[in-house]
Amino acid sequence: MEGEWHHFHYTVAVAIFMGASFAIALIFRRQKMSKLPPGNLGWCPFLGRTLGFVNPHPSTSNGHFLDQNIIKYGKIFRSHLFGHRTIVSCDQEFNNFVLQNEDRFFVSSYPANIPGILGRLTLLVATGTVHKRLRAVALSLFAAIRNEQQTFLDDLQNCALLLVKSWKNTETIIFCNEARKYTFTVIVKEILSLKADDPETSMILENFLTFMKGLCSIPIKLPGTAYEMAIQSRRRIFEIVRTIVRRRKNTGDHGERKRKDFLDVMMEMEGISEDEILSLVMDLLLGGHETTAMLISILVKCLSESPPALHQLREEHRGVRKRKEKGEGLMWEDYKNMKFTQMLIKEGLRYGNVVKFVHRKALQTINFKGYEIPKGWKVLPILSGVHLDASQYHEPLQFNPWRWQGKDKRGELYGKYFMAFGGGLRLCPGSELAKLETAIFLHYFVLNFEWTPLNPKDVPMAFPFVDFKHGLQLSLKPLSHPTTTLSS
Ligand code: HEM
Repeated sequence: MEGEWHHFHYTVAVAIFMGASFAIALIFRRQKMSKLPPGNLGWCPFLGRTLGFVNPHPSTSNGHFLDQNIIKYGKIFRSHLFGHRTIVSCDQEFNNFVLQNEDRFFVSSYPANIPGILGRLTLLVATGTVHKRLRAVALSLFAAIRNEQQTFLDDLQNCALLLVKSWKNTETIIFCNEARKYTFTVIVKEILSLKADDPETSMILENFLTFMKGLCSIPIKLPGTAYEMAIQSRRRIFEIVRTIVRRRKNTGDHGERKRKDFLDVMMEMEGISEDEILSLVMDLLLGGHETTAMLISILVKCLSESPPALHQLREEHRGVRKRKEKGEGLMWEDYKNMKFTQMLIKEGLRYGNVVKFVHRKALQTINFKGYEIPKGWKVLPILSGVHLDASQYHEPLQFNPWRWQGKDKRGELYGKYFMAFGGGLRLCPGSELAKLETAIFLHYFVLNFEWTPLNPKDVPMAFPFVDFKHGLQLSLKPLSHPTTTLSS
């Protein structure tokens, strides 16, 4: 009996011990897990939750995936995207922390097809000293513009006028394609001094379109795949630009250029290789073309839905014209005085979210707001998540250019909540060019045309790269008393 009693005690003690150990292990495990942001990695080892994340939705919203995850887990959560364990963040403070700590705690880390197609020298992919050096070159190109603002502005005006004049007898246009034509002519003019009707321009454009399709494809290196075709197109663009570089080198050719173009500036620099020059040309073509065309398209769409904004914009540009001789071009001061236009552009960037998110990777394990961000995990700062956050912006889902009234460009209130151009060491070097191009285009467009979208449901979509499904078809009506040089 006593033996049984002992045995009973012994069994109870073991059970208690095992139960306690299990509970302690669970607590430890919980503690360890609880350091990671909450979330769900999905069940599929490679896809994880990628399909949910990339599911198209209007770019003026966060989309179902982000909305649901924010409700369930908060603004910072873990997921499994693009084949990697990932921390997703719509949190303004964390996003700023990530962008400001580039190369220290985080580093740019784009999916394999980007470096695969663009090469290791592309700015988006380059890190550390290589990135610093190439970025310094890119920044100095834009600084060179500042010294010759007026000739630069004249170039842009010529491109804008060329385009709007081409619509003189046209009733409908696919606006996104037209906007792409504009931004492409601007960028090939600035980099290579090519004109819209130069054969090299159409050769580059043709290859560029194939190239763009491959950027979002699955990286399969087989003949005929979008990925492989993009690599070939990049090679062909490189060859076209290489021929121009060699021609300039051999002949000392400066053509009819009134001022040095980007290629001239790069070729005069010490210590930059031909391959680096070609890669930078590609970066600028890529960065400067699609994004700005989308910003302009988003604004044209928003203006058609906001008569008060369109009215105020027209009044501002009519005011500019009143101070000028008939047909006279815009001056730098005119641009600086376009206050409402600036507000409108900023709102278009916030509301339309041309770049939804950027790709990063944690270089070391980081603790932030009580969360552990493990070394090696991908981190996606969602820029639109901040722009559409009701705790940062009043009624964020409304297009309201007046929200920027009185907010100085560097104003603290919105400064760190505005992330359309990224931030930190990778802040977009083309941001000023993008805004200028947009303002100049709007000037000639709103003064010369009225327009109506033919399909009101054709809205900017995040695929997640932004595009309009039907290209934003517009019916155009010339204004009866055009106030610019269009009639000339
Ligand atoms: C509406 C227009 C534009 C938007 C919304 C935009 C947005 C951005 C963003 C968010 C980044 C940061 C990427 C990252 O952190 O990984 C970036 C980088 C960059 N952008 Fe833009 N951009 C625009 C126009 C332009 C233009 C006009 C150019 C050049 C002509 C340009 C060239 C670049 C380059 C070269 C980078 C890489 C910078 C680096 O890694 O150091 N972008 N842009």
